[in-house]
Amino acid sequence: MAKQISDLKLGILGGGQLGRMMIQEGINYNLCTHVLDPDPDAPCKNLANVFVCGSIDDYDTVYNFGKSVDIITIEIEKVNIDALEQLEKEGKIVYPQPRVIRLIQDKGIQKQFFKENEIPTAPFQIISNKTELATSRFSLPYIMKLRKDGYDGKGVMKISTPEDFNHAFDKPSLIEELIDFEKEIAVIVARNPNGEIKTFPMVEMEFNKEANLVEFLISPSTYLEDIQAKAEKIAMDIAVALNITGILAVEMFVTKTGELLVNELAPRPHNSGHQSIEGNVVSQFAQHLRAIFNLPLGDTSCLNHAVMINVLGEKNHEGIAVYEGLNEVLKMDGVYLHLYGKKFTKPFRKMGHITIVDQQREKAILKAREVQKILKVIS
Ligand SMILES: Nc1ncnc2c1ncn2[C@@H]1O[C@H](COP(=O)(O)OP(=O)(O)O)[C@@H](O)[C@H]1O
Ligand SMILES: [Mg+2]
Repeated sequence: MAKQISDLKLGILGGGQLGRMMIQEGINYNLCTHVLDPDPDAPCKNLANVFVCGSIDDYDTVYNFGKSVDIITIEIEKVNIDALEQLEKEGKIVYPQPRVIRLIQDKGIQKQFFKENEIPTAPFQIISNKTELATSRFSLPYIMKLRKDGYDGKGVMKISTPEDFNHAFDKPSLIEELIDFEKEIAVIVARNPNGEIKTFPMVEMEFNKEANLVEFLISPSTYLEDIQAKAEKIAMDIAVALNITGILAVEMFVTKTGELLVNELAPRPHNSGHQSIEGNVVSQFAQHLRAIFNLPLGDTSCLNHAVMINVLGEKNHEGIAVYEGLNEVLKMDGVYLHLYGKKFTKPFRKMGHITIVDQQREKAILKAREVQKILKVIS
C-alpha cells in the first residue's frame, strides 16, 4: 500500500510563524514534522516532533536535514537551493520544487519570467550597482529593489532625486516604474502533482507605510467580479507556467484604471492568507499540505468577512514581550488571537496576528481598528 501522509516525515526549512501554523494544521493530519531553523528559540521549537537548530543557508546542514525526512518544504525562500537540488536528484520529494524557489529568490529572474510569459507587471530594468542609476532610461521617481534577500520592504526604496543615488543599494538590483496603484491585492493559488489547481478568493491589503508591512488585510475583496476573476486567472496562469507543486501567493497592484500588475510571488504560505484559518473553509496551511502530499485540494470559499491585522512590536520597545490589552481584546466576539511564541519584541517585529470575522464587512473593519488601538506589544 502506498504510504499515507501520516506515515511520512515532513521536513520544513524555517521555523518561524509560517512553519508553526503549518504544523498546527499538520497535527490534524497526524503528520510528523521536522524543522530546521538557526534560532534555538524559533516559534516552531516546541511544536515540531523534531527540531534541528542549524543554518537553512548551509549546504551540508540542509542536505543532512533533508536526508532524515521523506518530503521537504519551506516556509521562507532564503534556503540553500544547491542542497535541495541534490536531494531532489537523489529522489527526495522537494515541494515547491528547487527550480521554482531559485527563480523566485531572485526578483530579476522573477520579472524576466513575467515578461517571457506575458504576465502583466510594472516595466523594469536590471542593474548591477548604483552607478548605473545615473544612466537609467527610467525617469525619477522610481522604485529600486535588491534582486535578492529583501523581505518586508527591507530591500525596497524609492529613488526620488539624483541625491538619492548616493545612498541607494549598491548590489544587483531592479529598477521599476513607480506604480500609482489604487490598492494592493493578493491571490493565493495551490496546485498538486495531479495538476489540480484552486485559488482562494482575492484579498485586499493595506500597508503600514512606516513599517512597510501588511497592516490590514480584508477578505474577500469587494472589487468587481470581473477584476477578481482576472486576478485569479493570472494567479493560475503563473502556477501552471511555473509547474509548481504547493501553494503560491501572488501579490498584485490594481491601478486606478482597473489594470492588474503582478508585483511579486512567494512559493509558500503568506501573510496575505492568514485570515483563511478562520475565514475560509480550508486554510492556506491545510491547502499547502494537501497540495504537497497530492491530496484533493480543499474548498477555498469564504465563510465570512474576515479582517486580519498583524500584531507588531511597538516603536521604542525592545526586550521581553508583554502583551497589553489582551483581556479587553479577547472579550470581543469574532476575534481570534494568534501569538507566534516569540520571546523578544522589537519595533515592528511580527509577534502575532489577529483575525476578526463578522457577517458584515464594515463591522469587521471597525472592530479591527479598535483591536489595533487596544492591543500593544511592549517590553
Ligand atoms: N513598482 C512599484 N510601485 C509602487 N510601489 C511599489 C512598487 N514595488 C513595490 N512597491 C511597494 O513596496 C512594497 C514592498 O515591495 P515588494 O516587492 O513586495 O518587496 P517585499 O519582498 O519586501 O515584500 C510593496 O508591497 C508596495 O507597497
Ligand atoms: Mg511583497
